[in-house]
Amino acid sequence: SRAITGPLYLQIRLHSTTNQPKFGFALDIDGVLIKGNRVIPQAQRALRLLNGENASGKKIPFVLLTNGGGVTEEKKAAQMSRKLDMDILPSQIVLSHSPMRSLVKKYKDTPVLVVGGRERSCKDVAEQYGFQRPIQPDDIHHWEKSVWPFRRVTDDEAYEAQKRYDFSREPIEAIMMFHDSRDWGRDLQIMMDVLRSKNGMIGTQKTDYSVQDTPVYFSNPDFLWSNEFPVPRYGQGAFKTALEAIYKRHTGKELKSTSFGKPHRATYEYAEKILTSLLPNNTPLQRVFAVGDNPAADIAGANAYGWTSILVRTGVFDGKGNSSEFPAKLVCDDIEEAVHWALNEEG
Ligand code: G3P
Ligand code: MG
Repeated sequence: SRAITGPLYLQIRLHSTTNQPKFGFALDIDGVLIKGNRVIPQAQRALRLLNGENASGKKIPFVLLTNGGGVTEEKKAAQMSRKLDMDILPSQIVLSHSPMRSLVKKYKDTPVLVVGGRERSCKDVAEQYGFQRPIQPDDIHHWEKSVWPFRRVTDDEAYEAQKRYDFSREPIEAIMMFHDSRDWGRDLQIMMDVLRSKNGMIGTQKTDYSVQDTPVYFSNPDFLWSNEFPVPRYGQGAFKTALEAIYKRHTGKELKSTSFGKPHRATYEYAEKILTSLLPNNTPLQRVFAVGDNPAADIAGANAYGWTSILVRTGVFDGKGNSSEFPAKLVCDDIEEAVHWALNEEG
């Protein structure tokens, strides 16, 4: 290797930087590392390769870049560490809603409707990001049970109940979908109640829809995603399709919304920052290998961002060749094959 000259402190820093691999990985979770609650067997071997059990003996930086979410990055890191039996740090986790921290400065103090997830998990995420007034559909349903007369919401399901808000006087400033809805019918109804209301006042309705008062933000465009069931499941992208159809039918207008998550650029810019922060002195990355199972999300996003896309056959995609619509740089059977190929590429 090249002799490193100059003052010792510089040699050490250069040495550590010079020796640091200048490439990294962005690994998708569902359909690549796990399928629902089942760990994909090759995942642990692949991550051990990245954690130093490779020819160079060096740790290769990687992030888990998922359109999943509904929990804090800390909780996801703990979940994945347990499932994969290795230490995954919160700083290595990019969730569908992670880049939505950027919305806090605009909506910090105003009521926002946070949709999706189990119980109050998405409210916890929103509050941890800095949103002071995240409201969930459960809270609105508990406030006025006739909003959705088909089932009840118990006190312990409605987390604003103890504050007894009157949502007819609390304007909802924005709608943010942080994870998959657990009750499409009710959540579509409540989201439309806000979108058709006068300035976000639930229970009112306007007649002129030429201006959409309430911004809508989605965190995950996935129309399909893969779990243990042999056929992919509908994701948040399918829910968005349903909301758009109802909005169009009821108002005659197209729903305007902003989407985060793969394949959108904002998510890759955020993930690149996170991945770079894992390198000493933020050494710039020369190459990122992005491994995913969903051509429309993982491959389209990586290709557009200039990363090396690797498609695996353990999730949504199960074709023999490459995806015709979003062709990857390489198609592998699984993540272990993908990591071996990439490490070989980097020598
Ligand atoms: O809800 C999770 C699903 O949309 C896909 O997640 O990890 O494959 O991006 P992932
Ligand atoms: Mg996936």
